[in-house]
Amino acid sequence: MQKFISLNQIDEIAQKIKSQISIQPIAGIILGSGLNGLADSVADAVYIPYSDLPNFPVSTVHGHVGRFVIGKLEDKPVMVMQGRIHYYEGYTMGECTLPVRVMQRLNIPSLIVTNAAGGVNPDFSPGDVMLITDQLNLMGMSGLNPLMGPNLDEIGPRFPDMSQPYDKVLCDLTRKVAKENGIGLQEGVYAGLSGPSFESPADLRFLRLIGVDAVGMSTVPEVIVARHGNMRALGLSGISNKANLDGSTITTHEEVIEAGKVITPKIEKIIRGVLRGL
Ligand code: HPA
Repeated sequence: MQKFISLNQIDEIAQKIKSQISIQPIAGIILGSGLNGLADSVADAVYIPYSDLPNFPVSTVHGHVGRFVIGKLEDKPVMVMQGRIHYYEGYTMGECTLPVRVMQRLNIPSLIVTNAAGGVNPDFSPGDVMLITDQLNLMGMSGLNPLMGPNLDEIGPRFPDMSQPYDKVLCDLTRKVAKENGIGLQEGVYAGLSGPSFESPADLRFLRLIGVDAVGMSTVPEVIVARHGNMRALGLSGISNKANLDGSTITTHEEVIEAGKVITPKIEKIIRGVLRGL
């Protein structure tokens, strides 16, 4: 794999997927840790393992399956990523965000991203769902922006605007759907860190101080790449644990997966409602 992914490499993957499906997805959906369940309810599904695709990274994390599931949810054609690729697995930023590039070349207009996150806002509890209204690109600020390298001019500009990472119309629709379903929805700013170590108490106090509500190890690069190619983005964080601001509790991956069981049905209801409204 060369350092940066070319349009030809992206198109090779997109063509291979296109040859196996007969629908045009209207939304790409990325499922986070412990939130894989939604992919199982996709109707008329075509399964494409990442390992069948040329140059495609494969997720190595427990709780992530590693395939595209393309079919219908609420009768709307969707392309679901069951298992995402994280930077901490050792892949490049370009590899981590390659699935979004492929979605763009398949002319998918909207991206719904989900993740498991630590609740930094003291009002959040494990099991809550947070609508991401904005994001803090801490990885990018330290030099890890997924758009570094040659710009893909066919997809978007060298210096893309990032004033509205999360689409306001999709956010409003999400609020409406959550209300209709009696799901309490938190809202806030998501900070993306590289991981894989969880945060220290000092990290977490810093994050709170700079206005972060939830923290995780994904999503931000994917949304930057989505916006670069003018895809509309919607982000949902499942709060899997409370941030350990004073060091009195520990955070484990098992806890994250366990919380996913409570969060998945809520996120599924929200995504189904949003899809109905698209
Ligand atoms: N920190 C970072 N990522 C996470 C967390 C956390 O506390 N919980 C789930 N993903």
